[in-house]
Amino acid sequence: ADHSYDYDVLVIGAGPGGYVAAIRAAQLGLKTACAEGRETLGGTCLNVGCIPSKAMLHASEYFDAAKNGAMKELGIDVTPKLNLDQMHNQRRDAVKGLTGGIEFLFKKNKVDWKKGYATFQDAHTVKVGDETVTAKDIVIATGSSVTPLPGVEVDNDKHVVVDSTGALELPKVPKTMVVIGGGVIGLELGSVWRRLGAEVTCVEFLDEILPGMDGDIRKEARKIFKKQGIEFKLSTKVTGVSVKGKKATLTLEPAAGGDEETMEADCVLVSIGRKPNTDGLGLDAIGLETNKRGQIETDHDFRTRVDGVWAIGDVIPGPMLAHKAEDEGIAVAENIAGQTGIVNHAIIPSVVYTWPEIAGVGLTTEEAIEKMGGDKKAVKVGKFPMLGNSRAKTNHEGDGFVKVIAEAESDRVLGVWAIAVPAGTMIAEAAVAMEFGTTSEDIAYTCHAHPTHSEAIKEAAMAVQGKPIHV
Ligand code: FAD
Ligand code: NAI
Repeated sequence: ADHSYDYDVLVIGAGPGGYVAAIRAAQLGLKTACAEGRETLGGTCLNVGCIPSKAMLHASEYFDAAKNGAMKELGIDVTPKLNLDQMHNQRRDAVKGLTGGIEFLFKKNKVDWKKGYATFQDAHTVKVGDETVTAKDIVIATGSSVTPLPGVEVDNDKHVVVDSTGALELPKVPKTMVVIGGGVIGLELGSVWRRLGAEVTCVEFLDEILPGMDGDIRKEARKIFKKQGIEFKLSTKVTGVSVKGKKATLTLEPAAGGDEETMEADCVLVSIGRKPNTDGLGLDAIGLETNKRGQIETDHDFRTRVDGVWAIGDVIPGPMLAHKAEDEGIAVAENIAGQTGIVNHAIIPSVVYTWPEIAGVGLTTEEAIEKMGGDKKAVKVGKFPMLGNSRAKTNHEGDGFVKVIAEAESDRVLGVWAIAVPAGTMIAEAAVAMEFGTTSEDIAYTCHAHPTHSEAIKEAAMAVQGKPIHV
């Protein structure tokens, strides 16, 4: 340890990036502190993101299964009655349990929690509340927050125009809900309230939902959501929202310009993306600038341009995902400790936790073709429908498909995409295989347990070679 500083490592922010970095640094023998301004540890993910949203998704799936006849079909006659207070309570319990768990892990690993928002004084000194803390290395893991939409004022306490945090806490099921943005948050939280009884309309600026995902997947996903009762207005932008009492009026316009229309809703969810948190961090004091998108740039080792200052997670470029932040947290701690911490940014799975789930890893078909210089023949695609999978069919979970994308010449897998009830869990096998440089043939000849949804990945890989069994 270097005794001229209070700590070897100070991490700013205790989200999945920051808390993991702090724990790993401590495990590697470094004297570590973590500054967090929230009342609880765990960041966006545990407090208002991944975890509470999944708690509401899970509970609303059961409610929907009871209500829409899916349970009846299995021989279970029930008439569900929504107890929204209890649903919220179990969500809060889940969050409390997990954020408390991080506090326990900090104590166990001797990470000091500095309570308050940190501001840089110089590259080795920050102020947290009244306290000045010095460290040899400082990791910025301040995460992200909701991107505001000009002309639309969010007030979570009024429950009319809300962001994702407000949409987790609605005390009543709105009769009508408009979701602005057909991205991950809009579809997940839109699904929750749709299942609990709201009429949901999703307004998306682009001509298809879920930008960044594989083209086939985006189309199929929208069809499935439509079947579940979510309405879509594509290529449409919201130009303003006004609120009178408990009603919101939205003004909409075709994305390409044209006649304005209006729409009423009991609740409007603004979910058009998130932006990096750097306000109040005092980056000026250390001469660190953000890029055009407000992100802190780093090199491959997560070093910023300022010596001794590192950055990870949502505040740096790349997908804004908890597991990406966590892996970067481990890597940055290892790099600070003089080891070789690496994150393979080409293989980061992304999952939308709707019913069914939507997941992918690696390149989309469109990206793969582009990578091959636009030569469609240089890419081979194998697709397998979930209806051909015995387990999915038996469980009445036939929506969706798996798609394996391989380079034609080498058969190397470039991407795997899936819509399937447990797609988020299934995609892990594709990520592991791709890390090991798999070919589609490798997956096709790997024995998969029967009957599992995962067999669909094997069959999609067989389809790349043109010979699946069950279609
Ligand atoms: P954050 O989790 O944002 O944590 C940063 C922390 O730093 C915050 O607690 C903040 O209070 C603190 N902080 C900021 N500035 C300072 C300062 N100056 N001093 C001290 N503390 C500071 N991702 C997934 O992978 N899967 C999901 O299912 C998923 N679901 C989501 C659902 C919702 C509704 C939302 C909003 C996000 C979801 N995400 C999901 C994204 C995920 O939450 C983020 O990618 C992840 O939390 C980023 O981690 P982070 O550590 O970089 O930042
Ligand atoms: P997003 O980037 O996923 O989607 C935003 C959508 O809004 C895009 O489709 C975009 O085209 C559209 N849009 C932008 N401006 C618009 C406008 N003016 N009018 C209409 N549509 C507009 O952002 P979202 O859903 O807010 O989520 C933020 C981030 O949080 C995600 O990118 C993801 O990184 C993370 N997240 C991850 C989850 C997961 O992994 N399951 C779940 C929830 C969030």
